[in-house]
Amino acid sequence: MTIPQLTDYTEASLDKAFSELNIEADRALNSVTADNETLRLEWLGRKQGRLKTISDLWLKAAPPEAKRLIGPRFNALKEKIEVELERRNSSLPGIRQANIHAGNIVESQIDVTLPGSAQRIGAEHPLIKTMAEIVGVFQRMGYSVGLGPEVENDFNNFESLNFPPNHPARDTQDTLVLAGQEQKPLRERLLMRTHTSPVQIRTMLEQAPPLRIVIPGKVHRNEAADATHSPVFHQVEGLCVDTNITFSDLKGTLDHAMKAFFGSAVKTRFFPSFFPFTEPSADVQISCIFCGGKGCRKCKHSGWIELLGCGMVDPAVFEAVNARRIELGREPVYDTSRISGFAFGMGVDRIAMMKYGISDIGLLYSGDMRFLEQFA
Ligand code: DAH
Repeated sequence: MTIPQLTDYTEASLDKAFSELNIEADRALNSVTADNETLRLEWLGRKQGRLKTISDLWLKAAPPEAKRLIGPRFNALKEKIEVELERRNSSLPGIRQANIHAGNIVESQIDVTLPGSAQRIGAEHPLIKTMAEIVGVFQRMGYSVGLGPEVENDFNNFESLNFPPNHPARDTQDTLVLAGQEQKPLRERLLMRTHTSPVQIRTMLEQAPPLRIVIPGKVHRNEAADATHSPVFHQVEGLCVDTNITFSDLKGTLDHAMKAFFGSAVKTRFFPSFFPFTEPSADVQISCIFCGGKGCRKCKHSGWIELLGCGMVDPAVFEAVNARRIELGREPVYDTSRISGFAFGMGVDRIAMMKYGISDIGLLYSGDMRFLEQFA
């Protein structure tokens, strides 16, 4: 087949020209007798291959506007040929090639005499599975899922969440920072996020209330690894903002979520705590899922297990969001005289470890098949 010169660059005639080539390529690539290497040379050969000729005659010679039309069609054809050759190469190993050379041409494309290659099917990682289950509980309460990047700026991770520059509260969440950013203002400097809470900020910068979002994700901290600590771990965060949101809504929501996740017999209790971005803040404990609250080794004989942090969104957070929204040319819609909200955050690793009886957090990150296969 000789490649004709292109004279007409309308889409219709380009489509026609490429469709003829496609038919020709399909015929060649589906031919049972054709040898893979010959096909490769004929179509993809660097010096004399057809695609080289087409590239010279059609693509390089075309006026600039036409190039934009020819390029994608050319690339699609090339990719199709490459994929097909790859498939032939992997599905037509030695036996068939030998048969062809010996003249015993195999009728079918598929050589049924070859042993099959088993596809090993993976399984969901226990951590991902746990995270998805927690997220599912909140989705069923009408929450949507929000995601954010692991590389975060200082403003979203700290400043807007009421961790001012140089404030000691930052020491509790030490992390890796990206190098070479000294010229940038502090709030723009990038770091590995220490919690999923910055996605609360990202969401409020983009969306007006009411909000109900649940945010799963990976976080990073400068922690020495031991059986219960890992410098990389996972959290699920939640944020609900609307008019008339009260602490009772927070209690009711989390109590329901814990019952939905661990079983309806589970009780919750709330203790005063501190987080810079919530006021008041609380730690939530659930009755021990191992002993039902009687006291056992798992709950250190207290009957309770501490599971998550939460609180009412501090108005200072809404103010930081409003100020940033103004800088971005958006309405400062988080009017603290009208709206309120609650937030919560929990560590997924600990929950997965409890659920599956895993004693060393490192196993979740080791990639050890002997461990992972137990969850398949
Ligand atoms: N970001 C907190 C941490 O990593 C967890 C947390 C606590 C998140 C309370 C919240 C919250 O949204 O309200 O320690």
